[in-house]
Amino acid sequence: MRLEVDITGKTFNSAAGGTHEVLAPVKFALQSGEVGVLIGPSGCGKSTMLRIILGLDRDFQGQIARPPEARIGMVFQEPRLLPWRSVEQNVRLAAPDIADAKLAELFRILELDAHRSHFPGELSLGLARRVALARAFAVEPDLLVLDEPLASLDDALAGRLRDEIATLVANRPVMTLLVTHSIDDAIRLGDRLFFLSPRPAHIIHEVPIAIPRAKRSETELVRIRAQLAALPLESK
Ligand SMILES: Nc1ncnc2c1ncn2[C@@H]1O[C@H](COP(=O)(O)OP(=O)(O)OP(=O)(O)O)[C@@H](O)[C@H]1O
Ligand SMILES: [Mg+2]
Repeated sequence: MRLEVDITGKTFNSAAGGTHEVLAPVKFALQSGEVGVLIGPSGCGKSTMLRIILGLDRDFQGQIARPPEARIGMVFQEPRLLPWRSVEQNVRLAAPDIADAKLAELFRILELDAHRSHFPGELSLGLARRVALARAFAVEPDLLVLDEPLASLDDALAGRLRDEIATLVANRPVMTLLVTHSIDDAIRLGDRLFFLSPRPAHIIHEVPIAIPRAKRSETELVRIRAQLAALPLESK
């Protein structure tokens, strides 16, 4: 499977009546098994780009080629759970055929066991984000789109979930697109990093990471971090 993104422009009409250019031309492709990471300043257009890629916003110039049969797992920037459904029901609604054992494993990995029957209003933001991750993983996606999924989690938990995302990606041929502000997450998870400009976003640098995820030692990560630090400043 392959995702081809070829956006030539995106504007919003502002409430005041003007127009607001959000995306400049952005073009890239992702293959199954690859993790693409979008890194860019707040407000540059990352979430807008994800909505376009998912087909949730069709009002843009350009085209997106997404395999029509691709199962999609999505973690929005806000967890977006159904407030009148429990944690377990929220996940089951997205993945009605999920086996009980698989669901139990997801809840264990995401440390949600104690919260199965809670409702979203009873959860902290970090817990709600974990439920959103469980829901995205539960559908066994071909295309996994994660908009800052590890924000508002403590470092230890974020690290464990990052490892779980890496495991999921290693176990299935999934195309993953991750938005993060964390260089550490980017270099531990990404195969290709796309550094975006301020709005209207375009790709300033595309940095491939050739070493397979599982083989990135701390020494390698230090080297990659140094390589990124040497990129021209306006890209970070
Ligand atoms: N529905 C909308 N109508 C008008 N303007 C919008 C709309 N959604 C987003 N914008 C504007 O588009 C720009 C990009 O927003 P977007 O949410 O894509 O940024 P982002 O890169 O995801 O930022 P962050 O890192 O803060 O999440 C912002 O200037 C925002 O105000
Ligand atoms: Mg965003």
